[in-house]
Amino acid sequence: MVDKPLIQYAVEEALEAGIEDIILVTGRNKQVMEDHFDHAYELEKILVDKGKTDALTAAISMLQEEGRIAYVRQMRPLGLGHAIWCARKFIGDEPFAVALPDDLIIGKDGCLKQMIEAYNQVGGNIVASMEVAPEDTSKYGIISPGENGGNLTEVCGLVEKPEIDVAPSREAVVGRYILQPEVMRELESREVGAGGEIQLTDAMAKLIGHQPFHGLKFDGERFDCGSKHGWLMANFMLASKDIELAKKMERFFNRSK
Ligand code: G1P
Repeated sequence: MVDKPLIQYAVEEALEAGIEDIILVTGRNKQVMEDHFDHAYELEKILVDKGKTDALTAAISMLQEEGRIAYVRQMRPLGLGHAIWCARKFIGDEPFAVALPDDLIIGKDGCLKQMIEAYNQVGGNIVASMEVAPEDTSKYGIISPGENGGNLTEVCGLVEKPEIDVAPSREAVVGRYILQPEVMRELESREVGAGGEIQLTDAMAKLIGHQPFHGLKFDGERFDCGSKHGWLMANFMLASKDIELAKKMERFFNRSK
């Protein structure tokens, strides 16, 4: 994404929110993630030799304190719920946050920071939410909303990827969650849901009524970088914040006028 990989944005968002320990759930052939957060000695040496100090500083600034990031391997692609469950031993009996890096959220304050502020008021479980177009309910976990207080909505139910005719609302869950450890017990059952996958949505739904559960309409813009369109828009958005890149983009778009 312009000059940093998506995973870097997710880690920086977590750090901004005050999260100190990070677990990356990765899969086969994703060693590049571990390498990203490690020294690249050959590259660093070349940059030193060529006197490219800006590039060197940029590369090194992405590294994190040693021991801060742990890696867990999801051995089979059984669904988001299963991926989260793979980290259970490291999470233990504490509340935790989840960020899906494909969902890039750009705002003044990071989405996780906003969620933790809300969590300090209401506790329990919180999902980031936004309204989606009717034709898009089948791409998201959808909230059955209860009482509404400012930007927090009580979650009375959750359905994974319903068609609009059966969707309880158009309020969708986007990829940021603060969850209580009890969700791991629900995931333990390995119940298969929508799309034949172990869904986080189904496990979260079982907590409703037992623990506080809210949706937070966050402040910021969300880009689905798992789609070509979302990825492109996110790059434009990030580039437009850089004066030099913004000028070049403007020239490019105006070239045929
Ligand atoms: C996942 C979740 C879904 C959520 C979405 C947000 O779906 O299963 O509930 O709304 O992320 O991006 P996926 O995009 O992995 O299909």
